[in-house]
Amino acid sequence: MPGPASDSTDDAGGMPIPSQLPRAGEAHLWRLDLEVEPEELERCRGLLTDQELQRASRFRFDRHRRRFTVRRAQLRRLLASYLGIEPRAVSFRAGEREKPYLAAHHTRDLPEPLQFNLSDCRDVAFVGVKVGLELGVDVEIVRPMPDALSISRSFFAKEEQEVLAAASPAETDATFFRCWTRKEAYIKAIGEGLAVPLDSFTVSMGRHEPARFLGFRGLPGEERHWTLKHVEPEPHIFVAVAARQPDLAIQRFNAPPFPSEPPSVNLPPMETR
Ligand SMILES: CC(C)(COP(=O)(O)OP(=O)(O)OC[C@H]1O[C@@H](n2cnc3c(N)ncnc32)[C@H](O)[C@@H]1OP(=O)(O)O)[C@@H](O)C(=O)NCCC(=O)NCCS
Repeated sequence: MPGPASDSTDDAGGMPIPSQLPRAGEAHLWRLDLEVEPEELERCRGLLTDQELQRASRFRFDRHRRRFTVRRAQLRRLLASYLGIEPRAVSFRAGEREKPYLAAHHTRDLPEPLQFNLSDCRDVAFVGVKVGLELGVDVEIVRPMPDALSISRSFFAKEEQEVLAAASPAETDATFFRCWTRKEAYIKAIGEGLAVPLDSFTVSMGRHEPARFLGFRGLPGEERHWTLKHVEPEPHIFVAVAARQPDLAIQRFNAPPFPSEPPSVNLPPMETR
């Protein structure tokens, strides 16, 4: 049951394999599946730097270690494909609030920087990639949220609290997560994380409404500069993508498992659903 709002993306099925960067006005959205066979996990470990392996080792639970290892290796592999280099050669730099970016030397020769953002929830992650200004991605698995209304009273804008309070009991969790993912995608796009008050801007959240920003406190008209997209790859997985660029289109892909041979610089096949 793809929800109505998921129609707001362009499904890439049937199109030729992209061998180049996203075009202007387009973002690529990659799905990564994080639970893999032990041999594949080993191949993923082989792509990580010592620092990343140390970070993996600091997770308390094995599943968190595994999922970090796979998402970081897949992220390296994807970005390496776009840049035409080996995954281990990808270097990152961190923004003020730890948002990862590609190191400047990777994009020095491109007309505009290559941007990405990753989000994970349990065994799935999504990576958005575009050229130009930054983007933010958030994924959540829709699940029962008995505290949805009280969380909304602490974090959401007044109008959003009202929409949530008016939702039918059957719709409350989905309405909450539509709002939450959209807000997180915005704060991740600007790289500020939870330092941004979540009630300083409002988003659409109704089941039949397209995803969009409704307003930003103190910034009249700012919403016209942004695109907000809602993607439902499965009925219980909500993904939001935000970018300060009007009319951004999304193309969706599935990252395939790691091959046993060294990763190729050609991008893997597209999702066909
Ligand atoms: C950004 C943030 C909201 C994401 O939290 P989350 O919902 O738990 O996580 P998600 O799965 O959606 O995203 C995680 C990914 O976001 C990216 N990320 C990290 N910090 C980010 C930031 N400030 N902005 C955008 N993306 C960020 C990373 O790629 C991370 O993936 P990794 O764990 O594999 O490295 C949260 O990490 C945050 O508020 N960070 C800011 C921290 C901060 O203020 N640090 C300053 C210390 S001085």
